[in-house]
Amino acid sequence: MTTPRPETVAKLTPVLTKRWLSPDAWRIGTYEQLDGYAALRKALKAHPDDLIQLIKDSGLRGRGGAGFPTGLKWGFIPQGDGKPHYLVVNADEGEPGTCKDLPLMTHDPHALVEGVIIASYAIRASRAYIYIRGEAVHAARRLRNAVQEAYDKGYLGRNILRSGYDLELVVHSGAGAYICGEETALLDSLEGFRGQPRLRPPFPATHGLYASPTVVNNVGTIASVPPIVLGGADWWKSMGTEKSSGPMIYSLSGRIVNPGQYECSMGVTLRELLELAGGMQPGHHLRFWTPGGSSTPLLAAEHLDVPLDFEGVAAAGSILGTTATQIFSDQDCPVYATYRWLEFYHHESCGKCTPCREGNYWMVRVYRRILAGQGTHEDLDTLLDTCDNILGRSFCGLGDGATSSVTSSLKYFKQDYLDYIEGRTAPKLSEKTLVGAH
Ligand SMILES: Cc1cc2nc3c(=O)[nH]c(=O)nc-3n(C[C@H](O)[C@H](O)[C@H](O)COP(=O)(O)O)c2cc1C
Ligand code: SF4
Repeated sequence: MTTPRPETVAKLTPVLTKRWLSPDAWRIGTYEQLDGYAALRKALKAHPDDLIQLIKDSGLRGRGGAGFPTGLKWGFIPQGDGKPHYLVVNADEGEPGTCKDLPLMTHDPHALVEGVIIASYAIRASRAYIYIRGEAVHAARRLRNAVQEAYDKGYLGRNILRSGYDLELVVHSGAGAYICGEETALLDSLEGFRGQPRLRPPFPATHGLYASPTVVNNVGTIASVPPIVLGGADWWKSMGTEKSSGPMIYSLSGRIVNPGQYECSMGVTLRELLELAGGMQPGHHLRFWTPGGSSTPLLAAEHLDVPLDFEGVAAAGSILGTTATQIFSDQDCPVYATYRWLEFYHHESCGKCTPCREGNYWMVRVYRRILAGQGTHEDLDTLLDTCDNILGRSFCGLGDGATSSVTSSLKYFKQDYLDYIEGRTAPKLSEKTLVGAH
């Protein structure tokens, strides 16, 4: 295990994680002692438009994967339209490897609740929803308790803190489908329909929940709002890089000594994160990794010094995504890892569009063939051709994301594929897996 140097430890910037280790951090009493609901008191004295401007000035970008500017999104909500407005928090967190929203809601649920109230006030919503993954029973329980505590203390409900502002907040558990993290599928699911993406335009900003103006934001995005209100836009921008401001929770998993959540200024590198996490496990050497979950193209050991912000990762040919950094070593097989992810995408494909539904089905079968030692050189062209027909031709991002590890593993690790095909690597799957595969 490597001990991080003081200059690397200084890269940690606990803002969203700062209360996580406090005793009973999830209770309202602890939260209030540690700055809790001070931002709300300040926000309720401000004009809603000024709050939207503050979030614009801070440069906050969505933490759900796409990095869309949050203030801009809030500004799209038409005002004075006479329709109800909604804030919907995306707490589905289904991307493989991603583990930042559930710990946040488990350890510090009031940070999200306070962010919801301020964001709803800014966009003039009087009803908000938190859509949480169905399997996340513990986090949902903590969240529901926190919402009740907030009602009891007058932070939710009618005439919040005697400001004249009313807000009802509902925590809704989904049934556990990855596609329900896609914002329009989430809205359909919340309305009681089968969770499948909607055609856009129109966008949720004008036709969202119940065809009304709606902001959909990630848990981390909304939990960033209270610290920005308290600390100001300049303080927030003092962390991170020019176009990727603020701190970010990086969830590290895989072949490292101390997996977990590390909150650092955006632009930290994997080399630094590895140092913070105690290094690679003994006997393991970094071979490949995902910068932002399994939907983002793989990177290799040569990318250790890429700044992990939106621009830096894009320049290296991948996507920052959910900052789910999954670390694989020289003892892991990129072909097998990609196959396992494809099984996931095939299973989670909602079936609405042909490229994703059929393409993932067939790619899984090609991978099984290769891993059972029966692949051909032509299979590699078939995989690339299939990806070409999925990427940019699917109805939503699930299809696009499924191709990421296929094309990137073929780019960096083609030899691993050839070793299976040409018999130098022993088959990993038995021929039984191939029943019905051709
Ligand atoms: C297949 C798929 C799954 C997604 N899952 C999530 C998720 O679990 N949580 C999330 O916040 N965003 C998820 N997103 C992104 C959302 O569609 C949306 O961009 C995000 O909630 C917007 O919030 P933000 O602007 O705060 O990032 C997913 C997108 C796709 C295509
Ligand atoms: S890309 Fe996949 S998940 Fe998205 S709509 Fe098409 S079939 Fe459904």
